[in-house]
Amino acid sequence: MRVQPRHVHTHTRRALPSVLRQTAEPLLVARGTVSPASVRGVASLSRANTNSIPPAEPWRRHPSSDPETPTVFTFYEKDTSTWQYIVVDPRTSEAVIIDPVLDYDPASGVLSTATADGLVSFVEHNGLKVIRILETHAHADHLTAAQYFKQELNGDVPVCIGRRIKQVQETFAPIYGLELSSLENVFDVYLGDNEEFKLGSLSCHVLHLPGHTPDHVGFVIGKAVFTGDSIFNPDVGSARADFPGGNVETLYASMQRLLSLPGDYRLYVGHDYPQNRDQTCFSTVAEQRAKNRHVKEGTDATTFIQWRKDRDAVLGAPRLLHPSLQVNIRAGRLPPPDGHGRVFLRTPVKLDVKLE
Ligand SMILES: [Fe+2]
Repeated sequence: MRVQPRHVHTHTRRALPSVLRQTAEPLLVARGTVSPASVRGVASLSRANTNSIPPAEPWRRHPSSDPETPTVFTFYEKDTSTWQYIVVDPRTSEAVIIDPVLDYDPASGVLSTATADGLVSFVEHNGLKVIRILETHAHADHLTAAQYFKQELNGDVPVCIGRRIKQVQETFAPIYGLELSSLENVFDVYLGDNEEFKLGSLSCHVLHLPGHTPDHVGFVIGKAVFTGDSIFNPDVGSARADFPGGNVETLYASMQRLLSLPGDYRLYVGHDYPQNRDQTCFSTVAEQRAKNRHVKEGTDATTFIQWRKDRDAVLGAPRLLHPSLQVNIRAGRLPPPDGHGRVFLRTPVKLDVKLE
């Protein structure tokens, strides 16, 4: 099935920043910083000068190699080791943004848009027409800036995610005391398996890549493949598969699906955790087959599956687990404010003693 974005438009910067008011889930952010007015997390705004935000400098520009493949601009967010991508059809300047990051300091409760603002400026300075904001999955280690981008791009760029996000929402809504009904239609497009959509003159194919999370999808555009956390660079290997709905066997199958693509396809990853090297955003399928430390050719599936399960059993929770999930299953919106305009994020507490 082919689904076209609801709106295609040319992005223009707003004269003034605005606060997102959408459905019953208000309050994302004006450009700048949302900081707590008290230790309990009451949001207040200190706005950046919107005219002075320089465009983010891409770590690399990967020019289109053939008429089917986009130009890829890569941006590394160091605090969460996340790769963000702006993917462009060079013939039309249409673009998609993949997995943008919203900055969050959990100790202070400060939410800011410094990273996202740089990308918005980059879009503006390069005259790009953003047609979709794509999420590979509901991230558990960083907050998505998808809703902020939508706001800054005049509110009509669809935020897209794999259709099984509903499964993730069903899992996590009760954990955070949310009504499932409050999460209906918070995303604009729910992507089906093998769905195709256009990016200018290019075709984007949606791959369901479950395992790390059940909703996980990748995007194949020509020879550029955006894998999210379904595979990592060869010396990093693979992502954990122990979140609710994750599955090691399924992750292995998804990795094999990626490794079955043609050898010169580039696998752009969702994170990188370099040790003794610079960060890097992709390896080719051939490089992954030869070198991936967890699943290179000749690796026994049973060995990988047992190793991954043993490894996951001793991993701690991601630093931003709870803030990330509460915001990301809302497509990047904050929880509604209380009667005093205060916004709170919840942390479930597990007790192994009786404590009154
Ligand atoms: Fe992830």
